[in-house]
Amino acid sequence: MKTKQGRVTFSAVGLGGRASAYLSVLHEIYPNDHQVVAVADPDPIKQARARKDYGLRDNQIFNTDLELMEQPRLSDVAVIATQDKLHLRGVQGLLAKGYDLILEKPVATTLEELKQVAKLSKSFPDQMVAVCHVLRHTLFFGKIRRILESDWFGPVVSIQHNENIGYYHFAHSYVRGPWNNEQTSGPLALTKSCHDMDILLYLLGDAHCRHISSYGDLSIFNRKHYDPDTMAPMCVDCPQNESCAYSAPRVYSSGKIKSMVFDLSSKDKVRENLGTSPYGRCVYHCDNNVADHQSAAIEFDNGVTATFNLSAFTATAHRSLKVMCQFGEIRAIEKPYLIETTDFRTDQTTVTELDVHDRGHGGGDKAFMKDFMESYLHGAPFNSTLEQAIESHAMALLAEESRKENGNAKCVSEWMQELWQNGQRKTDRTQI
Ligand SMILES: NC(=O)c1ccc[n+]([C@@H]2O[C@H](COP(=O)([O-])OP(=O)(O)OC[C@H]3O[C@@H](n4cnc5c(N)ncnc54)[C@H](O)[C@@H]3O)[C@@H](O)[C@H]2O)c1
Repeated sequence: MKTKQGRVTFSAVGLGGRASAYLSVLHEIYPNDHQVVAVADPDPIKQARARKDYGLRDNQIFNTDLELMEQPRLSDVAVIATQDKLHLRGVQGLLAKGYDLILEKPVATTLEELKQVAKLSKSFPDQMVAVCHVLRHTLFFGKIRRILESDWFGPVVSIQHNENIGYYHFAHSYVRGPWNNEQTSGPLALTKSCHDMDILLYLLGDAHCRHISSYGDLSIFNRKHYDPDTMAPMCVDCPQNESCAYSAPRVYSSGKIKSMVFDLSSKDKVRENLGTSPYGRCVYHCDNNVADHQSAAIEFDNGVTATFNLSAFTATAHRSLKVMCQFGEIRAIEKPYLIETTDFRTDQTTVTELDVHDRGHGGGDKAFMKDFMESYLHGAPFNSTLEQAIESHAMALLAEESRKENGNAKCVSEWMQELWQNGQRKTDRTQI
C-alpha cells in the first residue's frame, strides 16, 4: 500500500479527451494535492493548452510518448491516454522508469499483447497501475453490486446485459472514427466492451469466467450497401444527404456527438468541415472492418450464465441489464439511471431513480479519479487494478476469436490459467 505526502505529480501521455477529463477532475477536487509537470502530445493545439492550463514550460512538453520516456522519471504518476495501439509501449517504457500509472483501456489490443502486459504486471508489483474501467466506480453499477452483495434476492442465476451504442455514436467512432478498424485499434468487443466484460465480473463479486462464445458481423456498414449510382463517397456530395440516417451533416448538427464540434452554421461551413474530413465519409464507403453487432453467451465459474448484446442499431447510447436471482429480478437502465427490483416473495416492485448529474460515464470519470487519489494519498483500497483488468480483456478478445470461428466456444479459465502459470498470481485483488 502506498501513501503519498505533499502534491502528487502527474505527466499526461496523450492530452486528448480522456486525459483532459481526468486532469480536470484533479483540478476540481484536488487543487492543492496535485501538479501536472509534463505533457507528451504531438498536436500543437494540445501543447498550447499544456502551456496555458498547466503553466508548463517548453522543456516540460514533449512531442511523443517515446520522447518523454527517454527522460529520467518526471513525475509520480503518468496518465497513458494515447490511442489504443500505443498503450503497450507506454506501459513497458513508463513502468521501467518507475512511474505509477493511470492506464486507459484497452490495456492491450491482442491476446499476444495481453500476455506481455500480464508479465509486466508481475514484473513491477510495487508500482500502481490503475486501469480506467470507470464504470466500476459509478453510483449506478455500485448500487446494483451492493443489492447483489446484500443477498436479499438470493444468488444470481443469470444476467442479460446490453451495450446500446447508439446509431450516431457508432457511425462517428466505429465507422468513420479512430475505433473503426481492428488493425489500427482493436476489435469492437474489446474497444467498446472490455468495460462490459469487466462490469459483469464486478457485479458477480469479481467472479471468474469459464467459457465464452460469440456471433456477430459487419452486416450493414459495408460496400454491399453502397450504390455508386445514387450515393457519393462524401456525404456533402450525396443526393441522399437529406434523408439518410447516417448523413454526416445530419449527425454532426444533431448535437448528439459531444467530442467533436464542427462549425455547421452554413452550407459553406459544412462543405469546408465535412467535405474533406474522414468524419464526412459515407458510412457505406469507409475503411472500417469492426463488427456492427455482436452477441455473446458467457458462463462463469460460479455457474451463473450471461448473455451480452452489443449493437450499433439503437436510438440512444446507454447500457441496460437484467439480473435474475433466485428470489427476485433487478432491471436497470442508464440515462435516466433507473433501478427496478421485484421481489418474488411479495411481488412488490420498487423503482429507484439515481441522482446522477455528472457527465463522463455517469459520474464514473470523477469517481475513478477520486478513488485513485484516495488510494494514492491515503492508502484506501482500489478496485480497478491491472491484474483485474486482464480477465475482462481476455474475455473480449476470446469472444472476438469465437465470433470469427462462428461461435466456437472458448475456455477463458484455461487461457487465464496458462497466462498466470509461470508466475505467482497476486492474491489480494483489492489492494495496491
Ligand atoms: N475509459 C473510457 O471509458 C474510455 C472512453 C473513451 C476512450 N477511451 C480510450 O482512451 C484512449 C484515449 O482516447 P481519447 O478519446 O482521449 O483520444 P484522443 O484522440 O482525444 O487523444 C489521444 C491523444 O494522443 C495524442 N497522441 C498521438 N500520438 C501520440 C504519441 N506518439 N505520443 C503522445 N501523444 C500522442 C493525440 O494527439 C491526442 O491528443 C483511447 O485508448 C480510447 O480507447 C477510454
